[in-house]
Amino acid sequence: MDLESNRNRMVQELGSRYGIGRASARLVFAPYRICPLGAHIDHQLGPVTAMAIDQGVVLAYASVPACEVRLTSLDFPGEVRFELASPGTARRRDWGNYARGAVQVLARAGYRLGRGLVGVMSGPWSESGLSSSAAVGVACLLALEDANELRISPEANIGLDQAIENHYLGLRNGILDPSGILLSRKGQLTRIDCATAGHRLIPAPPSMSPWSILLAFSGLKKALVGTDYNRRVAECEAAARILLNAAGRGQELPLLGRVSEREYAAYRDRLPEPLDRRAAHFFSEVARVDHGCRAWERGDLGEFGRLMTASGESSIRNYECGSPPLVDLYEIMRGCEGVYGARFSGAGFRGCCVGLVDREAAVPAANAIRRAYAERHPELAPDAFVAICHSDDGARAIR
Ligand code: GLA
Repeated sequence: MDLESNRNRMVQELGSRYGIGRASARLVFAPYRICPLGAHIDHQLGPVTAMAIDQGVVLAYASVPACEVRLTSLDFPGEVRFELASPGTARRRDWGNYARGAVQVLARAGYRLGRGLVGVMSGPWSESGLSSSAAVGVACLLALEDANELRISPEANIGLDQAIENHYLGLRNGILDPSGILLSRKGQLTRIDCATAGHRLIPAPPSMSPWSILLAFSGLKKALVGTDYNRRVAECEAAARILLNAAGRGQELPLLGRVSEREYAAYRDRLPEPLDRRAAHFFSEVARVDHGCRAWERGDLGEFGRLMTASGESSIRNYECGSPPLVDLYEIMRGCEGVYGARFSGAGFRGCCVGLVDREAAVPAANAIRRAYAERHPELAPDAFVAICHSDDGARAIR
């Protein structure tokens, strides 16, 4: 995404839609994230990895004395308009939910919002498994905080964004998305410990070969709240409850991250199908994150990619996400020349696949994926596409 030309366009739109002059316009960029390793274990307090990419949500806005929020989007119809004092409840499939949710969680956390804002938002690839919803949430939070001169740390914003999704929208997800969006640094792998919310940036050593990120969109779209996401969270909790009871720690919060490896090995036989596979996914994914971080540190993209592909395999067999077209896309991508590894991006119930690819091989691999997927799924081909991206810094103001 060329932020400079995007900036000019967004400032112009803010001027024509709300009469805001260039000098009063402010902009924030909230990138999308990928999660190379650590699929579906954030909500169980496992460790995950993330990277921000050079695509995401741009919000051009201006602080206004009126106590209301008015937002339009280049991608969605209509205007979102509400009073700061009464954001209202979430509405079905409404892009304004993130702004409403941001106002609500800030107010609930005790922040005083005395100024409203007007704004124009843009962001490609919504509903694609790249955390576009969290990117919109983070952009709204940062703009509201700036408009009200609130200084809030990235760590606190991670909690606020998670509260939008958990408490306002009802998705029981973890901190992966806002952490990847807020904490990432270009060229580095972000390792997030979801139990402590601590993180570590792991630089790529100079010996690492140049790489790019491949994104292949299946053409399938669906909001996460309507998928099996929350059911899988409940299954993980049911597995954790059985394991903790067996270990004599039934009073603990039922999360797989609270079960030790030793306890899992001792009591895993007590798990009925499919809870046994949900737990197998969790514990094998934790190990892949640990091995992957070490491989990244050494610059071993071959091993890192192999672990990504194994994560994809476990997501299909053990965690049972994916759909036939998405699984086909994953298989096509992993088999392409120059692709180190591939997996579903995000929850993997819709959306896209992500791969790490040798930089020189990125264009031929993208072409090969396009051709093979269109042959296998001509019905989805009009909405499907492949993009090449790069890692980027986390959310920031654009000056
Ligand atoms: C979605 C959720 C995240 C995470 C991923 C799967 O993106 O929002 O919290 O659980 O799915 O890893």
